[in-house]
Amino acid sequence: MDPGEAARQAAAIHGTDFSKIPEFKDITAASITEHVHAINSNCPDERTKFIFKSLTTHIHNFVRETSLTTEEWMAALDFLKATGQKCTDLRHEFILLSDTLGASSLVTAINNPKPPGCTEGTVLGPFFEEDAHDFQFGESIASEGRGHYMYVEGTVLNTKGEPIAGAIIDTWESDGEGKYDNQYENRTGPDCRGRLISDASGKYAYRAVVPVPYGIPDDGPVAQLMGRLGRHIYRPGHLHVQIHAPGYEPLITALYFEGDPYLTSDAVFGVRDSLVVKTELINDPNLARSRGFPDPSKPHVLLKQDFVLPTVEEVKALKGSPTS
Ligand code: BEZ
Ligand code: FE
Repeated sequence: MDPGEAARQAAAIHGTDFSKIPEFKDITAASITEHVHAINSNCPDERTKFIFKSLTTHIHNFVRETSLTTEEWMAALDFLKATGQKCTDLRHEFILLSDTLGASSLVTAINNPKPPGCTEGTVLGPFFEEDAHDFQFGESIASEGRGHYMYVEGTVLNTKGEPIAGAIIDTWESDGEGKYDNQYENRTGPDCRGRLISDASGKYAYRAVVPVPYGIPDDGPVAQLMGRLGRHIYRPGHLHVQIHAPGYEPLITALYFEGDPYLTSDAVFGVRDSLVVKTELINDPNLARSRGFPDPSKPHVLLKQDFVLPTVEEVKALKGSPTS
């Protein structure tokens, strides 16, 4: 077979028309970016083409700006190889990389615009599980002995200040050891996580424990990189909350605690000022008993927080269509 025909057939295997591929002759450091744009220009999907044009431009400019050495480039590729090798079905080291470089926080921020007054969203994190049990108003999502008592209460509201009844509230947290239930090898079922429904007046309440700061997984290339960058791997203590209600934009957020030493250096950039809450220490056995704490002689932390959800239409009105 003549080589031209062989080339046409080889390209056709990938759905590519060889005759439409632009030819380039003089590849130099100055011209290569345009050559890569040209060869990608037949991409049938406009959004993919746009994203790769931008990605190529940024990678090439990064190499030019930093005068990246061959050794540095290989070190980067080896780092990515190690990151991939650390991934398993339960461990996604690339997500951790995205988190610690601030990319997850940025993607979350630009994709979740909210009208004024709505509760801000933040990163979901890797510890959400679907198997949380359902709880009634005031019940405990944490088994006894998992940490310092905490009582969480508030109302789910819309932007008009009206209560949202029947909202599904998923909540999960690290325990007093700074660990999620799914980080224990002997996990037998969900703990420090639960699902509640807001009542007819939009109110919810549950018992929990005070979540404490924890380090992101420290046995992989991402934690190593953090060390190289002169950073620490800690997240401030936080309570994750996810709320779904028909007709409303889902909310994925977390609450952080005033005074936490890691608030201003969160390893994954999840903290938002509006999500930092002030709690109150309650030392009243009668109140503790009425809230259902098994040992009412122990003090508990009170966390009061309302959540304000925009409607799907309100968010649609804020979002423009993506550039292509
Ligand atoms: C978390 O909030 O649980 C989390 C988020 C990003 C990376 C690691 C943990
Ligand atoms: Fe978390």
